[in-house]
Amino acid sequence: MKFVLASNNKGKLREMKAVLEQLGHEVVTQSEAGFSGEVEETGATFYENALLKARAVMEATGLPAIADDSGLMVEALGGRPGVHSKRFGGGGLDDAGRNALLLKTLENEEHRAAQFVSSIVCVFPNGDVVSSEGVCRGSILRAPRGSGGFGYDPVFLVDGTGKSMAELTLEEKNAVSHRGNALRLFEKRLREYESKNGIR
Ligand code: IMP
Repeated sequence: MKFVLASNNKGKLREMKAVLEQLGHEVVTQSEAGFSGEVEETGATFYENALLKARAVMEATGLPAIADDSGLMVEALGGRPGVHSKRFGGGGLDDAGRNALLLKTLENEEHRAAQFVSSIVCVFPNGDVVSSEGVCRGSILRAPRGSGGFGYDPVFLVDGTGKSMAELTLEEKNAVSHRGNALRLFEKRLREYESKNGIR
C-alpha cells in the first residue's frame, strides 16, 4: 500500500521508511506529498497526538497517512517527559541540551529505569483508523554514548544489548525499538483490517 508519513523528523522518517519498505509498502514523506504545515500537538496522549497528525496529513494529501507520536518515560520522574519529550526543558534546547538536562535531573538518582513508547496511527481517506503501540525498555546512562539515531538515543541503554540506542545501526535499532515494534504490530493490524474489508 502507498502511505504518506506524517512527520518532519528526519530520524523518525528514516526509521519508519526502512521498516515499512521492508514490509513491502511504498512511502512518501509529507513534504514530498506537498504538505508543509506543522500540526499542533495538543493531545494528552501519544495516541491523540498521532491521530491529530495523521488526520491532518491525510486530509491535505488524500492519501492514507501514518503518524508516529513517541517519547521517553522515565520511572523516577513519574513517566516524564512522556508526551512532552520534544519540548523537555523548553523550546530553547536541542537534543544535546535535553540530554544534558535529563542527566543533570537524574544526577542523584539510582533508579534509572525508563522506556521509549511509540504510538502509530494510520488514517485512511474514508476516515478509518488503524493503530498500534510499541515500547522499548532500558535505563538512563550516566553519560551519552554513540552517535547514531536521534533525540534521547545516546543516553538510553537498551535492555539486553549492553549498548546505547545511539550505538546501534539503523537495522539494529529498528529490530528492538519502540517504533520498530509498533510498526510490526501495525502491519499485523493492517492485514486484519484489509481482510475484514475485502482489500487485496
Ligand atoms: P513527537 O513524537 O514529535 O512529539 O516527538 C517525540 C520526541 O521524543 C522526539 O523529539 C525525541 O525527543 C523523543 N523520541 C521519540 N522517539 C525517539 C527515539 O527513537 N530516539 C530518541 N528520542 C526519541
